[in-house]
Amino acid sequence: MNIIGISGSPRDKNTAHMLKTVLDATGQEYELITLKDKDIKLCNACGGCYKSYQCVVKDDMQEIYGKLSKADIIVLGSPTYFDNVTALMKVFIDRCLPLYLSEKLKDKKVALVSVGNFKKGEVNFLDGYNPDEAIKDPDLKEEMENTVKRCIDNMNNFCRSMKLKMVGSVFAINGDPSLVNSELVKLGQKLIL
Ligand SMILES: Cc1cc2nc3c(=O)[nH]c(=O)nc-3n(C[C@H](O)[C@H](O)[C@H](O)COP(=O)(O)O)c2cc1C
Repeated sequence: MNIIGISGSPRDKNTAHMLKTVLDATGQEYELITLKDKDIKLCNACGGCYKSYQCVVKDDMQEIYGKLSKADIIVLGSPTYFDNVTALMKVFIDRCLPLYLSEKLKDKKVALVSVGNFKKGEVNFLDGYNPDEAIKDPDLKEEMENTVKRCIDNMNNFCRSMKLKMVGSVFAINGDPSLVNSELVKLGQKLIL
């Protein structure tokens, strides 16, 4: 089975941990592509891919197209940035237009992970808040969850456009993915059923 993870985080921290936990739980070999280490230019909307199903922009995305086309399972991960995916993940998504047009990813399995760290309108990307605080205050917990769910929804919409087969998603709040470790492991195991 060919398994690819894609990380849209500029850090090797929470999103990387979540992706690795899911991917390790498959018990299979996998490749984790970290977009921050790649040269991926913006989609320039030239329309070239409408004619050839190929992207004319020659950068690291060319190799990623090949890897995604060969994959059986894809796991996408992005931290939540302003209720959305990171710019790194969005550039990747936009550059998938040739794969959308050619329906190259149709019926491949996909799973999603995201993590946020947000409290009462404040973004905090360095330290997690005390999880007890979030669990005790249901309104706060809902607010913290909703921002990350919006990021997941955005990735979900992309996957629907690509006709990928959604296996599931896991999100974490408090900048603390260890709280959802068992869910991540279950998601990885479900991917190979
Ligand atoms: C520019 C920026 C915007 C952010 N926006 C949100 C947000 O809207 N909601 C949220 O819950 N966390 C937000 N965060 C916090 C990150 O999602 C959080 O720190 C996450 O754990 C980072 O994941 P990483 O360790 O994989 O980089 C933001 C962080 C940054 C840097």
